[in-house]
Amino acid sequence: METVDKSTGQSSLYNATLVSRIQVTPQLFIFRVKPDQPTFEFKAGQFTVLGLTWSSPCLPGTGPGAYPPEKAERLIRRAYSISSGSQERDEIEFYISLITSGELTPRLFQLQEGDRLFMGAEGKGIFTLDKAAADKNIVLVATGTGLAPYISMVRSLALGEGCPTRTITILHGARYSWDLGYRAELESLDRNCPHFHYVPIITRPTEDTAWSGRVGRLDDWVARPDLAEVCQVPIKANQTEFFLCGHPEMVMNCATLLTTRGFSEGTRKEPGNLHLEKYW
Ligand SMILES: Cc1cc2nc3c(=O)[nH]c(=O)nc-3n(C[C@H](O)[C@H](O)[C@H](O)COP(=O)(O)OP(=O)(O)OC[C@H]3O[C@@H](n4cnc5c(N)ncnc54)[C@H](O)[C@@H]3O)c2cc1C
Ligand SMILES: NC(=O)c1ccc[n+]([C@@H]2O[C@H](COP(=O)([O-])OP(=O)(O)OC[C@H]3O[C@@H](n4cnc5c(N)ncnc54)[C@H](OP(=O)(O)O)[C@@H]3O)[C@@H](O)[C@H]2O)c1
Repeated sequence: METVDKSTGQSSLYNATLVSRIQVTPQLFIFRVKPDQPTFEFKAGQFTVLGLTWSSPCLPGTGPGAYPPEKAERLIRRAYSISSGSQERDEIEFYISLITSGELTPRLFQLQEGDRLFMGAEGKGIFTLDKAAADKNIVLVATGTGLAPYISMVRSLALGEGCPTRTITILHGARYSWDLGYRAELESLDRNCPHFHYVPIITRPTEDTAWSGRVGRLDDWVARPDLAEVCQVPIKANQTEFFLCGHPEMVMNCATLLTTRGFSEGTRKEPGNLHLEKYW
């Protein structure tokens, strides 16, 4: 049964502590959470659940407003991809965007370091690099915070096995260059690892005049005839696998485009070469 301690205002279900909150922009934060349990098992690419009670305060000016009093002690739970490398077991990292009208993120963004929250007991999901054949090139495509599982994947490789030996390319789409979280880390890996390529692309260049890189939506880039040169891999279903994560329309549009080029999602019997994670 869920109860709230009257002196602290905290739920008996809280089992983790926010240890750091790093601002990328006012709407984009990297949160690091320490679970009370000694180890947290997950594979790179998996997600877990974060939760706060309805009575937890929202960032001023955000949130959906009033809620029925009987909900006060109940948890609002949402799935979040883990961005930590899979060797890290002590603190777990998340890359989260603020949905100003949302139920949970306005409360998460109001948390301060040391505050308590609920976190799932382990990683979940099948959006993991081990679902791809070991000898295939990998293209990881993300909008916004859909980058999080790929950070976990490349950190797991970089911390564990060193630079990847097969080609791994990240295409990251964001509105503005300042929304390109983890950019410095990915640029550094790109410089240091011959088989790793980072391709940042922004969609609103007229409001970001200092940007001189690639522009446009990811589905338009995936449709381009020169996609192989952009990704530095053959766009062939027997040589390369695609992961798509983030905005559901981007995921569906890119999946449709790649299907016409011979890529397919797996079935129970056959592993696929197209891996999808839609965020809503
Ligand atoms: C497997 C999985 C992993 C996820 N990982 C992450 C992650 O790493 N980082 C992250 O920020 N989010 C992630 N999400 C989304 C997250 O679970 C929540 O949906 C999101 O944080 C909004 O929660 P909320 O309670 O604030 O808003 P809600 O009250 O749940 O949502 C309000 C509405 O906002 C829209 N919405 C939801 N998410 C987004 C979004 N990211 N961008 C734009 N509109 C949105 C939807 O239309 C939704 O109906 C993931 C979702 C899934 C299913
Ligand atoms: N700077 C900001 O104002 C800011 C920054 C971060 C987050 N937020 C808030 O956080 C939430 C999530 O924002 P986000 O930027 O992380 O994610 P987002 O809104 O999903 O946008 C991320 C990227 O996906 C693109 N995109 C949107 N719809 C698409 C589609 N159908 N097909 C292909 N690409 C598509 C966007 O391009 P378009 O530019 O063409 O939409 C953008 O480049 C939003 O509610 C937003 O208000 C705002």
